[in-house]
Amino acid sequence: MTSAALPSDPPIDDAELSTTETLDRSLLSAVARSGEIEQALATDASRFRVLTGDRPTGRLHLGHYLGTLANRVRLQDLGVQTMLLVADYQVITDRDDAGPIAERTRELVTDYLAAGIDPARTTIFAHSAVPALNQLMLPFLSLVTDSELRRNPTVKAENEATGGRPMSGLLLTYPVHQAADILFCKANLVPVGKDQLPHLELTRVIARRFNERYAGGRTVFPSPDALLSDAVNVLGVDGQKMSKSRRNTIDLAMTEDETTKQLKRAVTDSDRNITYDPVGRPEVANLLSIAAQLGAGTPEELAAQIGDGGGGGLKKLVTEAVNEHLRPIRARRRELEADPGYLASVLAEGNARANEIADATLAEVREAMGMTYV
Ligand code: TRP
Repeated sequence: MTSAALPSDPPIDDAELSTTETLDRSLLSAVARSGEIEQALATDASRFRVLTGDRPTGRLHLGHYLGTLANRVRLQDLGVQTMLLVADYQVITDRDDAGPIAERTRELVTDYLAAGIDPARTTIFAHSAVPALNQLMLPFLSLVTDSELRRNPTVKAENEATGGRPMSGLLLTYPVHQAADILFCKANLVPVGKDQLPHLELTRVIARRFNERYAGGRTVFPSPDALLSDAVNVLGVDGQKMSKSRRNTIDLAMTEDETTKQLKRAVTDSDRNITYDPVGRPEVANLLSIAAQLGAGTPEELAAQIGDGGGGGLKKLVTEAVNEHLRPIRARRRELEADPGYLASVLAEGNARANEIADATLAEVREAMGMTYV
């Protein structure tokens, strides 16, 4: 690390990254910044370019919808420029093969559009279709040390979740690839959950180091901010975190009958009087909070309304709230499913737009690095 900084350069940040302390600090500052950013969004949303994405590993469920998808639609509707990534290369970080990836990508795009993502305003694209984005990974890898990569708590947790599978080079380095996702389009705002903060911190470091080491202090890459969502964690019908592998989800793609059946299985407790007590009665509170987030009222109001109706009354109310809220989304989903040609064209157009942006950024990167020979 001997690059000579120009006197005007900000100091190179080679401090240790991703220790618990760093994470706590970045969490605190992200919470503080998120409040300021919300205000700026309300006054001038067009200043922001947002990038977010999902791994195409299965259908989206209420956890995704309430946690991130509804917020993306909100940002899009505020007038933010939004980029939405189908993170297909990230699927193979922790498993042996990509699975039925084409089908899952099509399902993801269907879920996005059904939930209100508008392809005229939001660019939907896939990693594997944007070569110049992937090429950014090479210079970016030169800007991080192996110990910084090995300390990433999210990577560690994902590695542990594989149950002893040897860590691949991609699992170790995908946060750098994720930096390329964010920086190729110079996104300045990334809506994330807490688990993604280490990746965003690394992205900021990569942007700074690139500017300092390879661009003589010019801002080729702006440092993105995290926008932390205040969404409550959605639990599945078994009372654990909602997740496909636990089969405890309520999917956007389910029918009303499937939803009713799934919610009938939901864990509650034996107290017939329904109250909103997130600490003492987490499963009951989760169901109340799902209905509340879907616009049925406050959790306390809903609890009072159910009164002595018990688990049965609670499930009935939540099932109605879910089915009612998702009804137009599901209807749109069925229309979209019947039109695979349209879905393919949405992705093709998004990919073309992402390629234009990525090609322009890569040209700037080559220029900054003196790698312009032709
Ligand atoms: N890692 C994210 C997830 O697992 C998906 C993702 C890929 C992403 N690239 C991104 C999120 C860039 C935000 C920004 O959900």
